[in-house]
Amino acid sequence: MRKKIVAGNWKMNKTYSEAIALVGDIVGSSYDESVQLIVIPPAFYVSEIAKISSSTNVGVGVQNLSEHDSGAFTGELSSKMIQSVGAQYALVGHSERREYFNEKNSDLALKVNQLLADDLTPIYCCGEVLEEREKGNHFNLVKSQIEEGLFHLDKDQMLKTVIAYEPVWAIGTGVTASSDQAQEMHHFIRGLVANKYGVDTADSISILYGGSCKPTNAKELFANADVDGGLIGGASLNAADFIAIANSF
Ligand code: 13P
Repeated sequence: MRKKIVAGNWKMNKTYSEAIALVGDIVGSSYDESVQLIVIPPAFYVSEIAKISSSTNVGVGVQNLSEHDSGAFTGELSSKMIQSVGAQYALVGHSERREYFNEKNSDLALKVNQLLADDLTPIYCCGEVLEEREKGNHFNLVKSQIEEGLFHLDKDQMLKTVIAYEPVWAIGTGVTASSDQAQEMHHFIRGLVANKYGVDTADSISILYGGSCKPTNAKELFANADVDGGLIGGASLNAADFIAIANSF
C-alpha cells in the first residue's frame, strides 16, 4: 500500500510568529493518522518547526536546496544542513523554481541525488504550462521532466521518491485540473515508472496532485486511483483548510 500524503507548500508566506502559530494549529488538530502530513515552510523556520512537530505525525520539508554538497555557494542550503535541523523532505523543481530561477531537469537530478544521499525524501515536481497543454504536448513534456530528473536513480532510490504533478495553469489560479485530467496524467506518470522500474515499484510510489486543491475539491481529486494526495499552496496557509484537505480521502 502506498502512502497517502498531504503536503503544504507555504512558499514565501508567513512571518516567524505566524508560522509557529500555524504549525501549532496543525499539530493540535485531529486528522486521519493514516495520512502523512508534511509542512514545507520557509527554510529558516524549519529548525523550530521540526522541534514542534517532532513527536507528531507531521513531517517537515524545505522548498529548495543546492545541488552542491558544501562550499562557496553564497545564499544556498545543502541537504546536510536541511537534515541536521530535522527536516525529512524537500521539494525539487517546483514550477516557480523552474520558471523564475531557470532550474533545469539536469540540475534537479543533482538535487535529488543530494537528498537521497542524506536520507531525505525528494518530492519531485513536474507539470506543464497551459501553452503546452493546448498544443497537446503535455504528456511529452512531463515525460521528459520525469526521465531527465529521476530516471538515473536505481530502483531503491526511486522507491524513496515522491512525485508531485502540478499543472502550472492550475497553480494559484483557482482553476483546478478536472478529476479526469488529474487521473489521466497520474496514470501516465505511473506507467512511465512501471516501464522503467516495474509495476511493483510504480505501485509503491506516491504521486501527489497540486494546483488550486481546496477542501471543496480534494475529495473528488483524491478519489482517483492514481492520485495519492496533494501538494497544497494557498489552502495550506490556513490550518482548518489544510486539515480538511487531509481528511478528504
Ligand atoms: P495553489 O494550491 O495555491 O494553487 O499552489 C499549488 C502549489 O504550487 C503547491 O506547491
